[in-house]
Amino acid sequence: MKILMPVCAFSILLSPGVRAATIAMEDQSQIKVPVPAEHITYFQPPQQSELPDNAYGKMVMDGYALFVDTKRQAPQFVGNGLNCTNCHLDQGRLANSAPLWGAYPMYPAYRKKNDKVNTFAERLQGCFQFSMNGGKPPAADSREITALSTYAYWLSTKAPVGVELPGRGYPDVSEPKGGYNLVRGAAVYKDQCAICHGDNGQGQKAGDDYVMPPLWGKESYNWGAGMHRINTAASFIKHNMPLGKPNSLSDEQAWDVAAYVNTHERPQDPRLVDGSVEKTRLKYHANDGVNVYGQTVNGVLIGQGVQ
Ligand code: HEC
Ligand code: HEC
Repeated sequence: MKILMPVCAFSILLSPGVRAATIAMEDQSQIKVPVPAEHITYFQPPQQSELPDNAYGKMVMDGYALFVDTKRQAPQFVGNGLNCTNCHLDQGRLANSAPLWGAYPMYPAYRKKNDKVNTFAERLQGCFQFSMNGGKPPAADSREITALSTYAYWLSTKAPVGVELPGRGYPDVSEPKGGYNLVRGAAVYKDQCAICHGDNGQGQKAGDDYVMPPLWGKESYNWGAGMHRINTAASFIKHNMPLGKPNSLSDEQAWDVAAYVNTHERPQDPRLVDGSVEKTRLKYHANDGVNVYGQTVNGVLIGQGVQ
């Protein structure tokens, strides 16, 4: 990736031709950027050395700590083995890894997921509830949400408000023509993922801490999380995994392995309707991208959850 100063990125950003390659977010707006990937210049967030030594700088650092060490910093709001930075790489700075600087300037925004305009605080609460399987999320005016918002605001220093920057989210990887294949996905997993994430997706621990995060099972993201969608996981994986070798998988391999990961059980969707997987599927999963929640795969009903 070529890195230019923000000023150059901006001249590209603001030229009218730029709004064209689809960066499809799970909902909300889309922009089109017709620039070939290798020529896209990404927004550059500030460095920690630039932080002022005052109450604001301290709050930024609190948010940073929460983002990279979530389980230890906010144990009451984390119900699995993940930290925010496991899915938002490089401390929430990395382009195409749903960076915080791509997100913060785009809120408040309407989300189909809960059919209302969400503030940035509500968006953070959603990641606690689903991605972190955290139960009742921290209050909008809590220390946790204030610190994380301050961190995201700081990373967005000098970013334009309401302009979708290149590198936001996990840019779409469209489904291969023949669809995905779980047998091929298992083979990709064994060859390219198991060495770090474990044969059973369980991750790896050093003492109490995960050094390699789990991909399924009770310590993983729950069935309500964005990552449970095969299309979203394929996009994340294509741009970010195997760690250190981004963009090395073909689109087909990314889809196959995403499908393999996301047909394994994980904690139940906390929005479970009347204790029924089928009702929950109809209400929340039938129109939520590509996913297998509530479907029967190889004779097994998926979405029963694990505890
Ligand atoms: C299991 C992976 C995972 C974890 C862990 C996770 N997130 Fe996310 N996050 C996602 C996905 C997937 C999206 C949706 C991105 C998309 O639609 O392209 C998302 C979206 C977001 C967004 C909105 C991005 C945007 O551009 O609108 C923010 C902000 C965010 N997460 C913050 C957090 C915070 C804070 C934490 C920790 C408390 C966290 N996330 C933990 C996967 C994760
Ligand atoms: C060299 C080790 C390594 C390999 C190989 C690797 N990963 Fe990862 N993976 C990681 C680490 C470490 C993280 C967390 C990144 C961070 O915190 O910066 C991660 C994060 C993830 C996440 C999001 C966090 C979570 O636990 O849900 C997913 C999904 C994922 N990897 C899938 C894959 C897939 C699929 C493959 C194979 C194509 C793969 N990884 C290969 C080390 C690896």
